[in-house]
Amino acid sequence: MRLLLTNIKELVQVEDNPVLFKAGAEMSRVDTIRDAFLLIYEDKIEDFGSMDRLFEVPDEDVLVEIDCSNRLVYPAFCDSHSHLVYPAPREKEFVDRIKGLSYEEIARRGGGILNSAKRLHETAEDDLYNDAMDRISEIIKMGTGAVEIKSGYGLNTEDELKMLRVIRRIKETAPLCVKATFLGAHAIPQEYKNNPAEYADVVINEMIPQVAAEELADYIDVFCDRGFFSVEDTERILMAGMKYGLQAKIHANELGFTGGIQAGVKYNALSVDHLEFVGDEEIKALKDSETMPTVLPGAAFFLNMPYSPVRKMIEAGLPVALASDYNPGSSPSGNMSFISSMGCIKYNMIPEEVINATTINTAYAMGISDKYGSIARGKIANLFITGTMPGIEYLPYSYGTNLVETVILNGEIQSL
Ligand code: NIG
Ligand code: FE
Repeated sequence: MRLLLTNIKELVQVEDNPVLFKAGAEMSRVDTIRDAFLLIYEDKIEDFGSMDRLFEVPDEDVLVEIDCSNRLVYPAFCDSHSHLVYPAPREKEFVDRIKGLSYEEIARRGGGILNSAKRLHETAEDDLYNDAMDRISEIIKMGTGAVEIKSGYGLNTEDELKMLRVIRRIKETAPLCVKATFLGAHAIPQEYKNNPAEYADVVINEMIPQVAAEELADYIDVFCDRGFFSVEDTERILMAGMKYGLQAKIHANELGFTGGIQAGVKYNALSVDHLEFVGDEEIKALKDSETMPTVLPGAAFFLNMPYSPVRKMIEAGLPVALASDYNPGSSPSGNMSFISSMGCIKYNMIPEEVINATTINTAYAMGISDKYGSIARGKIANLFITGTMPGIEYLPYSYGTNLVETVILNGEIQSL
């Protein structure tokens, strides 16, 4: 069936010659068409252009027409970093932090990720799935059309596989595009506290082969940071993953200058994420690599951490992606419009840069930018229609407001 969107006030992020990501000065470029139409055939974008060209569309084929007067149409957000399968929120730790404990202190006391792992062990697979699907519906309402989801609250073979099976079920049943990342090396379990290398051996020898045998993951991740996994163990884990065809997407430089970014680049990671601590050395390592630097504004905001030097990165010619990090400990929100506002307010990005950072660049960081992340002929029709609004600046400006009115995924209008 065909779906025709007409009278679009501004069709945003259109590409005639699609690129896989945008870097440096190119990030400030977003092509748009004012007074546009968009034609969708089955699950793909078939055509788009100015309303003057609409006579070229044979109208006997059009089954549904949506009038988008005064409304903008965007490619759906791609959220390339989330932990949205989790057993319970951690609002008590939020209060502990208000009272003065740090995220790292909470982790050292067995709270944080270890707290979630304990709860996950006790939670039935069906409950994990149902709660995660509620979060999926919530992010779809806010315009997300593709999401990466990590394991990492299992921290033993059985529970990591349980999480990944939940993610697989989400992949099979949710209308948005899902990528699964195996994050067995998310935290060091209590019993390995004094010997993290031994836990890394379990990840390498036990978990990775089983994850690969059941084809449960697209990517592999390690939390390479101070108090978590060393560069040496990270490299061993990434190498083991690569043997099974799992490309890396790693957590790096959230808590210090730990060498995580360099390790990611060395193993050709698809992305390195967090990046609160980035200096000249890190920028040099990222330059001319194929690794997408991914900043997670929600975590920096929620944990009161330093904000990544995004301007410096873009001015050095790097691409930058912005993702939500939706998780119970450091960023309990998957609201990509809010992430867009943060991009402008806290990182001094212009609205065009933010659009690239939350669509095509995050699509690249999930390995899907050939099919998602922009309005291009042949790409999957995942997009949203806003409410009445004046122009692209208005979305990040209106922080905290959900301007997404209609969501179309795989060419189908979603009931929100
Ligand atoms: O991306 N930094 C490590 N992992 C997550 C936090 C997970 C949690 O606290 O539950 C993050 O911020
Ligand atoms: Fe994360």
